[in-house]
Amino acid sequence: MSEQMTYSDKVVRQFSIMTIVWGIVGMLVGVLIASQLAWPAMNFDTAWLSFGRLRPLHTNAVIFAFGGSALFATAYYVVQRTCHTTLFAPKLAAFTFWGWQVVILSAIITLPLGFTSTKEYAELEWPIDILIAIVWISFGVVFFGTIARRKVKSIYVANWFYGALIIAVAMLHIVNSAAIPVSFLKSYSAYAGVQDAMIQWWYGHNAVGFFLTAGFLGMMYYFLPKQAERPVYSYRLSVVHFWAIIFVYIWVGPHHLHYTALPDWTQSLGMALSLILLAPSWGGMINGMMTLSGAWEKLRTDPVLKFLVVSVSFYGMSTFEGPMMAIKTINALSHYTDWTIGHVHSGALGWVAFITIGSMYHLIPRLFGREIYSVDLINKHFWIATIGVVLYITSMWISGIMQGLMWRAVNDDGTLTYSFVQTVQATNPYYIIRFLGGAMFLIGMFIMAYNIYKTIAGQKAVEVKVPAPIQH
Ligand code: HEM
Ligand code: HEM
Repeated sequence: MSEQMTYSDKVVRQFSIMTIVWGIVGMLVGVLIASQLAWPAMNFDTAWLSFGRLRPLHTNAVIFAFGGSALFATAYYVVQRTCHTTLFAPKLAAFTFWGWQVVILSAIITLPLGFTSTKEYAELEWPIDILIAIVWISFGVVFFGTIARRKVKSIYVANWFYGALIIAVAMLHIVNSAAIPVSFLKSYSAYAGVQDAMIQWWYGHNAVGFFLTAGFLGMMYYFLPKQAERPVYSYRLSVVHFWAIIFVYIWVGPHHLHYTALPDWTQSLGMALSLILLAPSWGGMINGMMTLSGAWEKLRTDPVLKFLVVSVSFYGMSTFEGPMMAIKTINALSHYTDWTIGHVHSGALGWVAFITIGSMYHLIPRLFGREIYSVDLINKHFWIATIGVVLYITSMWISGIMQGLMWRAVNDDGTLTYSFVQTVQATNPYYIIRFLGGAMFLIGMFIMAYNIYKTIAGQKAVEVKVPAPIQH
């Protein structure tokens, strides 16, 4: 029977296209707020264009709209291909697409208007939070329903990571967003004081661990071997680092609360487990890299593979930097500075955006049965994006360490060497460099949009047949 069936790819196509659209929107807002830090007049004295309102719009748009759409698209694509079956409850899958778009549009309206719960990465107010929970649970039903009716015996490792993403994010979102509404768009957190802070950063760091990492590792485990035409280097390593990541990530939130009212032992625990987290993270990075053994020469000619491999190296770099920043004495220097922003974007641009871009270049032409319009344009995109990230993160590292050192410098008589304004002045050139780096990355996204448009314009989507069941 299943030979007659075709994969449910409409929802994959919709999410894939929206990945690029929301990538451009989110990064455009990123470039705008980067310009505001360099030239404050760029807020045009308009409340809804002010930095404080657009910054959460940027983070929500890039993480949940761009990253989220990429996760939905690839999870739905990968789970069908690796389970040799169509999506369970395709209508519910369609609901997740439209539901997610409504969430994003609600964010685009409410955040600039100033409605916010004030919890970082969970700013949206309670009615939107409820919709997020419903859409996310529906995602889980479609995903695990598809796994349940798989026609192959084992569950491919990419699905383990997508599964962990779905379960963990449901739990984190529901617990952290618990709030008492006082009006339609105003609520107060169900927690208070240091407990609120701890729950917030338990959520916050696991948003990094599960939303920005586990799901994208799922992407890595499918698209990197596919593009390199090589099997995954080690399945044993993938299983070991999967369980280690799941167990360790959940404890490291306190490294966001060093030197606060949080009990000292909790901070030290967060620090110790962050250091341990280096090992499973690098397990994933090594597994990705080594998948290329015997296929390294492909890197010379295949720009899609370049995106995927460079993303894995950025993953390795940011998961080395993170544990270092979690050491309390180092955090005493890095916290509140641009060093954190540099770290964030080496993960967010270098890892998350690069693996997404590489996967989309692999995926979208296949969904439309076409070759990509221009390999040369992918190459140009790769180089402009790479130079953009490097400019972004190096400028933030220099400015961050400079800020930290200037803030702590004291004269012999114990007074501060620098006033705050002096540190702001010293930072300005680096903000201009970051703006340029971000603008280059954004130009790369426009190149991608053009290339994809030329690839699929006027083209009918292809229906791909589900293979016949494998006999074990
Ligand atoms: C063109 C690309 C981008 C530019 C120009 C840009 C710019 C910015 C700027 C200016 C900030 C505020 C920094 C501050 O408060 O000092 C920021 C914050 C942030 N951005 Fe981006 N961004 C870009 C892409 C991305 C992407 C793709 C992601 C995620 C996938 C991302 C995630 C974040 C996060 C999580 C923060 C908050 C960091 C924190 O609170 O420590 N950004 N970005
Ligand atoms: C082993 C892995 C990692 C560890 C131990 C780690 C650790 C840290 C530490 C210590 C901070 C600074 C906290 C502070 O001073 O406030 C931080 C901030 C951050 N990291 Fe990582 N990191 C890791 C990987 C990543 C990756 C791969 C990404 C992105 C994909 C990422 C995204 C972020 C974000 C968004 C923040 C800013 C949070 C905020 O204050 O708003 N991290 N991380």
